[in-house]
Amino acid sequence: MALRVCVTGAAGQIAYSLLYSIAKGDVFGADQPLELLLLDIPPMMTIVEGVVMELSDCSLPLLKNVVATADYNVAFKDVDAAILVGAMPRKEGMERKDLLKANAKIFEGQGKVIDQIAKKTVKILVVGNPANTNCLITKSCAPSIPAANFSCMTRLDQNRAQFQIANRVGVSCDKVRNVIIWGNHSATQFPDVSHASVLDNSGKKTPVYEAVKDDAWLKGDFITTIQKRGAAVIKARKLSSAMSAAKAVGDHMRDWWFGTKPDEWVSMGVISDGSYGVPEGLVYSFPVKITDKEWSIVQGLSISDFAREKMDLTAKELQQEKETALSFLSQ
Ligand code: NAD
Ligand code: LMR
Repeated sequence: MALRVCVTGAAGQIAYSLLYSIAKGDVFGADQPLELLLLDIPPMMTIVEGVVMELSDCSLPLLKNVVATADYNVAFKDVDAAILVGAMPRKEGMERKDLLKANAKIFEGQGKVIDQIAKKTVKILVVGNPANTNCLITKSCAPSIPAANFSCMTRLDQNRAQFQIANRVGVSCDKVRNVIIWGNHSATQFPDVSHASVLDNSGKKTPVYEAVKDDAWLKGDFITTIQKRGAAVIKARKLSSAMSAAKAVGDHMRDWWFGTKPDEWVSMGVISDGSYGVPEGLVYSFPVKITDKEWSIVQGLSISDFAREKMDLTAKELQQEKETALSFLSQ
């Protein structure tokens, strides 16, 4: 049976980097037939038609059908996975939360339709910014779908952090394990390497603090580089990240589908159950392990005073975003 996968924002730049990777089997499996439902707004439909032509011309055996639509009722019907990319991206000088007003309505409308017509097992990944709060809105508008089926993307931040450490130590990125992104996909996020390690060729693990040997950098420039990386890309490209965002979508969704490796965790924004003192109900990025398509928050990690302060700060920002978002939603 073909898996029904909806991607919104199908005419946009992230989708353009993402769709080929999904359609050739990188995300849901090399043997898994797929049906793609591509949603965008009516003025963008001619562009989406061009994307559909290119997908056909890629001649991909797993891709059984592609539907281009501007109708939520077509896009979300019986979907197994929904990747919600479609939203306005920020421009130079904006913070991601400045997008809340423009984008909250999109996620409210989509949540309501997902609630009615998607499969109850649907896995929903919110990418459009501000991703955590848009995810919270979507979940709030889809009460018949289990809360655990919603997540937002902080994998790009994780990938960025892994690269920075790998580059500093002089190893390849896959040798850096268990970096954590806590909190909001924003400038308050806390990239935490206090539980992370670097592997050498024999498989021996060295804690990142020992491998890097520069606490000031790890507690200073490393953190701000990750927090401000999205803005740095916008400044350079005059467009927000797309290739790296699409790669992170694939990483996030593939791990959700197939599970995390033993002894490894990944970061994703999920509904807080109060773990680590994070207020319940916020969509907050935690380290998670995934088995049988179910994530669970990694428990029992020690939290230093330094980390506590940063984790609370980003929770506070999410609390404020939540209150602002709720004030925008129709009653
Ligand atoms: P883009 O402007 O290139 O594309 C967005 C597309 O969404 C456009 O084609 C637009 O018409 C469409 N769209 C608007 N309203 C829609 C709706 N109601 N339904 C369906 N589609 C709709 O933007 P992009 O660069 O692809 O970025 C998309 C979003 O992803 C932005 O909000 C951006 O900030 C965010 N983003 C998040 C991360 C992350 O790590 N979470 C990373 C990069 C970008
Ligand atoms: C990113 O992290 O690159 C995206 O969220 C885009 C942005 O606005 O920073």
